Amino acid sequence: MLILGIETSCDETSCALVEDGKKILSDAIATSAEIHKKTGGIIPENAARKQVEFMLPVIEEALSSSHKELSDIYAIAVTSGPGLIGSLLVGVETAKTMATISKKPLVPVNHLVGHLYATWLETENPPQFPALGVVVSGGHTDIVLMKAHGKFEWVGGTRDDAAGEAFDKTARLLGLPYPGGPAISKASARYREKNKGAKLELFPRPLIDSTDFDFSFSGLKTAVLREVEGKKLTEADVDRYAAEVEEAIVMLLLTKVKKACVRFNPKSLIIAGGVSANSLFRHNLEASFGPTKKDQPSLHIPEIKHCTDNASYIAACAFYNYQPLSPNKVQVNPNLGITD
Ligand code: KG4
Ligand code: ZN
Repeated sequence: MLILGIETSCDETSCALVEDGKKILSDAIATSAEIHKKTGGIIPENAARKQVEFMLPVIEEALSSSHKELSDIYAIAVTSGPGLIGSLLVGVETAKTMATISKKPLVPVNHLVGHLYATWLETENPPQFPALGVVVSGGHTDIVLMKAHGKFEWVGGTRDDAAGEAFDKTARLLGLPYPGGPAISKASARYREKNKGAKLELFPRPLIDSTDFDFSFSGLKTAVLREVEGKKLTEADVDRYAAEVEEAIVMLLLTKVKKACVRFNPKSLIIAGGVSANSLFRHNLEASFGPTKKDQPSLHIPEIKHCTDNASYIAACAFYNYQPLSPNKVQVNPNLGITD
């Protein structure tokens, strides 16, 4: 079943063609990140205006690079939420129009659930149920127990800022560019290289000992602000603070993920969303759950380019959760939760 996926929930405009939820025939993406770098973060209207400009060329590119036409597609999948309302509308209205004119089925996809399906792409060993699904993105941090496709229970999540948001906000305080995650990771790697084995314990680890699976990242932003306020930071200072921030966020995530694996004993562990691109996080996950580890769930992390927003896993998610809706019933929901 060939599905055309569309993703426009934040600042990417993406279209992909995916066969049977697994094989990527094409994967086109345009980003407006350069504009957001200039403004130090996303201004929603700027993102949506760019998406209006990029949407049709990106769809054309996805079709032409796979040598397919709309008539070859079985169904259209589109992210209907959560995300920025203007951005979501660009993708959803385009998909509705395409589905109506071509009389193809239209499948709305929850963006957060979609992230998890990046680990079903291009692999002979997809996750097994029950799986623990962890979505760590710019707007969300959620842990769910996945019992089957479409059957999720919420286990925990952030009480305030998302993990990616913590990277983005602290990066800004350190004078690093948007998006903050990759910038912090780069600066941190410089510090770690020069200071092997250095203790990184400057910033607090809220809720680390709590028995639930919740997170709180907003205190980190305040702690960084207090630390740097009024100081003229050298490049070395920035690198050190970046390493401290990365260590705090990654340790918090790892601790709760490990606790949840002990509690729920899943067959597979899925880590997805923009923050799963973080190399320190990936390295530590491999060390705890890699293939040599016995009696641990199998670890599934998307390849780097599928950690951040992309239409290929929106199409994959629609294949495994195939619930088409009449176009006039599909609506955007900026506040959709992972189990909604
Ligand atoms: O999933 P995503 O592309 O968009 C949302 O759905 O929000 O995630 C974007 C987030 C941003 O906060 C960005 O700073 C973070 O993912 N991110 C990273 C890395 N690459 C992207 N965080 C840490 N390390 C990275 N290498
Ligand atoms: Zn995302």
